Amino acid sequence: MRSPRHFFEPLAVGAPTPLREVPFRPSRMIHFFDPSNAKMRAKLSALAETCDVLLGNLEDAVASDKKLEAREGFIQAAQETDFGRCQLWTRVNSLDSPWFLDDVERIVAEVGDRLDVLMIPKVEGPWDIHFVDRLLALLEARHGLKKPILVHAILETALGVANVEEIAGASPRMQGLSLGPADLAASRRMKTTRVGGGHPGYVVRADPNPEAPEAARPGYQQDLWHYTLARMVDACVANGILPYYGPFGDIRDTVACEDQFRNAFLMGCVGAWSLHPVQIGIARKVFSPPVDEVRWARRVIAEMGDGTGAVMIDGKMQDDATVKQCRVMVGLASMLAEGDPELSAAYGFDAD
Ligand code: GLV
Ligand code: MG
Repeated sequence: MRSPRHFFEPLAVGAPTPLREVPFRPSRMIHFFDPSNAKMRAKLSALAETCDVLLGNLEDAVASDKKLEAREGFIQAAQETDFGRCQLWTRVNSLDSPWFLDDVERIVAEVGDRLDVLMIPKVEGPWDIHFVDRLLALLEARHGLKKPILVHAILETALGVANVEEIAGASPRMQGLSLGPADLAASRRMKTTRVGGGHPGYVVRADPNPEAPEAARPGYQQDLWHYTLARMVDACVANGILPYYGPFGDIRDTVACEDQFRNAFLMGCVGAWSLHPVQIGIARKVFSPPVDEVRWARRVIAEMGDGTGAVMIDGKMQDDATVKQCRVMVGLASMLAEGDPELSAAYGFDAD
């Protein structure tokens, strides 16, 4: 462990000073694009108007004979596109792959100043983050970057889950974690063949009816990801970084996608990945606090005055703890409303 005294010192001579706080900007959807696809690249500035984050994916889903094209395409897109308020992230190949080193070296050299976050897949422990941390510091120093590049790790191996707290706290560069249910299922030897979501076999069965023991007993599908997501949220919040649900692979099942995203939102996540344009709108809807909840939360805050003591509002007891929950909701809503006049009006901020 580095001593707290040294934790925020640059890891290379001339590298920018690490940030003390993770910038909290809208990141409801991290929309993945394939940078090897020139047609897709041409649409990026239009897409940027609808997204909080655009991520050029270099890892899985890019065939090995397209890896170099994807890397060069990402660099070109970063140089030529106007992303407006939208953040630009990339997911590089895994640390043990033949592409990782050149991915990072080329991207930091060419477009390091345009990149908000570097997503690292298959992170297994703090040692992986330490390696990336030092490498980035050396490259930032070499290329004269003024602002540190932040790191986002995907939680997608059993060992990674076992070490999640240490990963979240491994470096001041850590911006957040995403749950990667597809690789995690494979790593854990789960008996599924899906990218996220539930499974009809993972159920709790209702007890038999003593009056009619032969009658059909309903089974209730459970959430396969609950434990991991909860653990990841705690690890993130305990370390001041942001938690995200990852991919939902059944693009046509917009209902189940919305449910999975909402479970993550309610559990504390700030966003999810979007793999298809149809999921952008789902993420925007789910990860923007509901209008009635925000209006209610504002009322609780107003009636609670200095936030101490207790009051009854519409028969519901409010105290320090509920007012704190309400402040989380309103804080998020006002941050999102800053760049979105429609949302701002819906939340009632315009009337203030
Ligand atoms: C994402 O990368 C996943 O493996 O689910
Ligand atoms: Mg994966």
